[in-house]
Amino acid sequence: MPTLTSVSSERPALPFAAVWLRDNCPCTECRDPRNGQKLFGIADVPVDVRVLDVTESRETITVTFAPDGHRAEFALAWLDAHRADSAGDGRSERDKTMWSAADLDDPFPRWSWSGYRADPLERAAALRQVQRLGFAILSGTPVADQTVLDIAATFGFVRETNYGRLFDVRVEANPNNLAFTGMAIAPHTDNPYRDPVPTLQLLHCLRNAVEGGESGLLDGFHAAALLRKEDPAAFDVLTSTLVSFAWSDTGTVLRADRPLIELDALGHIREVRFNNRSMQALNLSPARTLEFYRAYRCFAEIISRPDLLVSFRLEAGDCVIFDNTRLLHARTAFADSGSRHLQGCYADLDALASTVAVLGAGR
Ligand code: OGA
Ligand code: ZN
Ligand code: ZN
Repeated sequence: MPTLTSVSSERPALPFAAVWLRDNCPCTECRDPRNGQKLFGIADVPVDVRVLDVTESRETITVTFAPDGHRAEFALAWLDAHRADSAGDGRSERDKTMWSAADLDDPFPRWSWSGYRADPLERAAALRQVQRLGFAILSGTPVADQTVLDIAATFGFVRETNYGRLFDVRVEANPNNLAFTGMAIAPHTDNPYRDPVPTLQLLHCLRNAVEGGESGLLDGFHAAALLRKEDPAAFDVLTSTLVSFAWSDTGTVLRADRPLIELDALGHIREVRFNNRSMQALNLSPARTLEFYRAYRCFAEIISRPDLLVSFRLEAGDCVIFDNTRLLHARTAFADSGSRHLQGCYADLDALASTVAVLGAGR
């Protein structure tokens, strides 16, 4: 562990501001020891707070503050994990491994349901793959109605929507969505018209006895990063133009306005949405509209590059779990008369991250 006070000066220099240290004091006066929650607000911290003295031991440092002599003891490991520019909450491009199809292992990574269920380490590894690559495929799951809900329950909570707890993807006589036909579906993210958008999607295959009906996944963060590199002006347009997405039927009217590429406050890619089926007419001046369409076309062209898309076939008992804020998914066409049946549901990344953390902590 590097020492934090090694920079020589009259008073040891810390790479942390006094007000930050004081705000994060872990003592029992500052935090309720039963739950770790903070007992004061920022306005309670003296405006002229300064570091008066620092003493360092092997694993901790003790900071004494002016003007009130308050003392805080910090674990060096905790401070080290909070240096400037250390990792964030895991959701932005900084914490991802971006990929094209050729970067993925061959054979394509799949996890067996029996191993996933029996072994917490394997479960944690599969879920970490969802965080890192944006997806995982489980194979050998029960070929039974509603299994997708049991799979979601292994790491989180189903996000119920107007479609119900789950939705069936199969050919319907009167489809309210192109997904319920045999038509090809180009790469897209689901439900960008919801606020908040479902951050995870599961698709569980009950039957795929058709020619065609192959699945595809594409790393939308990678596509957005390529756009930023190849056409920074187009990238700027897509991160700063609000696009409205909508969906409705007789019982539901949904709308959300978001950019196609959403950045966090530091400018890192955090969410991508792309769905030409639910994107609405833009309300922009003609000049801005032209800029947008140029950028949108550029992004769509990158998304359509064959080397980005990984193709695979879902067989009965396979379930793909993917990050719906990052990956785009697609399928090829199949005959309307063919027998293909998937069940899908939505869930969320925060619960998945929690499960990973709990499994990791228990190792
Ligand atoms: C969907 C969808 C893909 C498929 O229902 O959202 O994209 O493989 N389905 O049918
Ligand atoms: Zn304190
Ligand atoms: Zn979809």
